[in-house]
Amino acid sequence: WPYLAAALAGGYLLGALPFGLILTRLAGLGDVRNIGSGNIGATNVLRTGRKGLAAATLLLDAGKGAAAVFIAQLWGPDMALTAAFGAVVGHLFPVWLGFKGGKGVATTLGVFLALSFPLGALCCGLWLLVALLLRTSSLASLTSVAAAPLLGWFLLADLQMVQLTGAVALLVWWRHHPNIRRLLKGEEPRIGSKTE
Ligand code: G3P
Repeated sequence: WPYLAAALAGGYLLGALPFGLILTRLAGLGDVRNIGSGNIGATNVLRTGRKGLAAATLLLDAGKGAAAVFIAQLWGPDMALTAAFGAVVGHLFPVWLGFKGGKGVATTLGVFLALSFPLGALCCGLWLLVALLLRTSSLASLTSVAAAPLLGWFLLADLQMVQLTGAVALLVWWRHHPNIRRLLKGEEPRIGSKTE
């Protein structure tokens, strides 16, 4: 178990790097938590009007999740799953931000791609499909993470992947509760709109 604890801690520390906040601050845009949904993720960075910065946030947030998995994988599959969970938890509850982090979607997709490319690619495809059809980032996110445990079962027949993707999906859904409330009221902003 000391190794699993190390994988959890390592994944957590990587996941806790708030790239959306760092990049917007470096770009002189102030604190991204004061605009739009107040989230530190790529969708909210896009509300600053800076597409390149939003794309960089997406890539870095996904990249840190993938990096945690790839590094831990050197010590075996159990370590990779543990680091994957740690990375998502780190993004959601970063120690540097008083445990108030993001919604975990990009990090989750990065983790899924690194654990199983087909599963991750299908989740990304589903995100894109819903986003293109309905122009709503949160709905795309909720759909794609909810599909992951089912894909883990039907695609990989791997109980550990079902458990990991299921646990991550629950956390991501839970962090989206303000979005779910807005979606139910028909008040969720469309992708790219700057108002909330
Ligand atoms: O990736 C987060 C997305 O699902 C929702 O972001 O800023 O609209 O709450 P936001």
